[in-house]
Amino acid sequence: MTIRTRTQTRVSQHRKQHIAERANKLSPSGIRKFFDLLSGMEGVISLGVGEPDFPTPWHIREAAIESIEKGQTMYTSNSGTPELRKELARHLMSYYGVDYDPTSEILITVGVSEALDLAMRAILDPGDEVIHPDPSFVAYNSSIILAEGIPVAIPTYEKTNFEISASDIEKCVTRNKTRAILLGYPSNPTGAVMSRQKLVNIAELAQRRNLTVISDEIYAKLVYGMEHTCFAALPGMKDHTILLGGFSKAYAMTGWRVGYAAAPKEIIAAMTKIHQYTMMCASTMGQVAALEALRGDQDCVKEMVEDYNRRRLVIVKGLCDIGLSCFEPKGAFYAFPSIRCTGMSSEEFAERLLAEEKVAVVPGSAFGDCGEGYVRCCYATALEDIEEALKRMKRFVNKYRKA
Ligand SMILES: Cc1ncc(COP(=O)(O)O)c(C=O)c1O
Repeated sequence: MTIRTRTQTRVSQHRKQHIAERANKLSPSGIRKFFDLLSGMEGVISLGVGEPDFPTPWHIREAAIESIEKGQTMYTSNSGTPELRKELARHLMSYYGVDYDPTSEILITVGVSEALDLAMRAILDPGDEVIHPDPSFVAYNSSIILAEGIPVAIPTYEKTNFEISASDIEKCVTRNKTRAILLGYPSNPTGAVMSRQKLVNIAELAQRRNLTVISDEIYAKLVYGMEHTCFAALPGMKDHTILLGGFSKAYAMTGWRVGYAAAPKEIIAAMTKIHQYTMMCASTMGQVAALEALRGDQDCVKEMVEDYNRRRLVIVKGLCDIGLSCFEPKGAFYAFPSIRCTGMSSEEFAERLLAEEKVAVVPGSAFGDCGEGYVRCCYATALEDIEEALKRMKRFVNKYRKA
């Protein structure tokens, strides 16, 4: 080892000692780690990244271009433009019949990602517990840890449609410690949608035990053959819910970075304080685009949903035909097949599938312990690519099938 290398090692150790405990506690995202392997490879079909393959509909882009041409390039109010908040309030009333005051009960954020972080930081004291389903979106666990809370993961299973039940939640409620329940349905990564009755049971529990429900409904518009239930619209729940929603998925607007939170005014005031010192406001052009998304023709969403539905049917049938049994996803744009017939861990499956057949999927273990034995396949990808990916996966599974 050269002297220079020893010095570098010392510097690196020194730097590590100066990383805060809250950052050290986070595990690197299982998705990111996997995509580092992928970068630079050619001919890969990606069923990996969870974002629409459509560009943002043209009328939405045009509205943003026009606003830039008019020179609308300043900060907006911390809470978001009054027009967008008003339109959102109208939208939530007309879709779900839930009544929010646009001036005090709605905050525009930098995607649902920021709204989630703000919700946790606004309501958690150190050591407060937050119950969430496992598997679930990768940021849930981390956002709780970053707010010095304690994540309490409740296992969910394919045989019970990856739904979380009120009775399982109740078993984990600890007096004075459990502060909130974090739900994300339609679910990333499983595509599960909760039945209305099961949500009603959770609502009753939340009211009885005085718990706040943080409901991430970013995939609300991406449901197939069923209606979305908005948690805040359940009887008595508006006062107990922090509703998170966004534009990234339904309007193909991931890069614009706009989302929102709707909640009782005391919670929105606390979230706004944190937001004003950290973000100031969501991007001005993004908010103009989001306003147009809500005000404009909704046919673009309908057409994208129809397209995802066609792909959903192809991928689920294709995976089952290969022998990767697949739970029927009812929302979002993910299929979550079991890979147990290969005897591989989900990480090994994903790494070898990428290396040998150039198909990228995400190991289920990235979403929690109960994701082990599954991989997430995002079908927001061209149909021809899905069909080619299925051919490659068939070759791969036939080679390694154990049973
Ligand atoms: C369940 C869920 N919530 C939140 C987000 C983040 O969305 P946004 O782009 O609005 O920050 C994602 C993105 O994949 C997601 O899947």
